[in-house]
Amino acid sequence: MIAVGALDGRRVVVTGASSGIGEATARAAAAAGARVGLLARRADRLEALAGEIGGEAAAADVTDADAVTGAVDRLAAALGGLDAVVAAAGTMHLGAVGEADPGLWREVFDVNVHGLLATARATLPHLTDGASWVTVSSMSGRRVPSAAGGVYAASKHAAHAVDETLRREAGPRGVRVTTVAPGFVATDLMAADAAAREDVAAFRERMHVEGLAPEHVAAAVVHVLGLPPEVCVVEYALTSTAQQR
Ligand SMILES: NC(=O)c1ccc[n+]([C@@H]2O[C@H](COP(=O)([O-])OP(=O)(O)OC[C@H]3O[C@@H](n4cnc5c(N)ncnc54)[C@H](OP(=O)(O)O)[C@@H]3O)[C@@H](O)[C@H]2O)c1
Repeated sequence: MIAVGALDGRRVVVTGASSGIGEATARAAAAAGARVGLLARRADRLEALAGEIGGEAAAADVTDADAVTGAVDRLAAALGGLDAVVAAAGTMHLGAVGEADPGLWREVFDVNVHGLLATARATLPHLTDGASWVTVSSMSGRRVPSAAGGVYAASKHAAHAVDETLRREAGPRGVRVTTVAPGFVATDLMAADAAAREDVAAFRERMHVEGLAPEHVAAAVVHVLGLPPEVCVVEYALTSTAQQR
């Protein structure tokens, strides 16, 4: 349950806001009173969501650092500044190192690591002192779940390191950096791969049968954003009761 008014007056940019955890977080933040700026590539979905929740939309590919800066500048101008960022844009491909296409490794690192860095570079200048930064990393940023999940896990371990870096860089002016690390969540992550590969389809089945709802993760993020300025949650790891590891 989201406390109505917990984020009253806060101006929050959410990346990956066109689906899944990012979309659920944008909805939950708006329901808690925030004004929300939405960023992802699918402009049509962002515009529709912005219309529904009274937010602002700016489409960009997070792997294009200049495009991210342009989109964030537009969102910050429309919102009148930024008090929080939720970096939820991300991607996943499954495959053992010896078998996978190196192009897929690059895509995972481009979105999950370079995209995260580009988001930080674009948003940090706008963040007010005492603002909040949340990265949606993964339980795969805390352990390697399987050989096939190793490249994704490497990118999410890097996301944890990026957050530690941001804590050192922006912490001294009161910016609070939180790494949220969910286990399985029932979303469209890897939908295209699952249509073509049985092993990915089986993995996605587990995500949907055993996983948290995106709204569970959104509630955790809104809880973190609603804490008083003297409290910094360093890491918030959560799984469904069915998963627990
Ligand atoms: N589902 C899980 O089991 C799970 C578990 C732990 C962590 N996570 C993490 O949660 C985050 C959200 O994923 P999800 O599960 O909610 O899946 P999702 O529904 O597929 O959401 C991914 C989001 O990232 C955006 N995105 C992907 N590539 C992008 C790019 N190059 N530029 C801009 N935006 C991009 C997508 O929007 P566009 O396609 O419109 O660009 C979409 O909004 C990811 O970081 C993922 O690693 C997921």
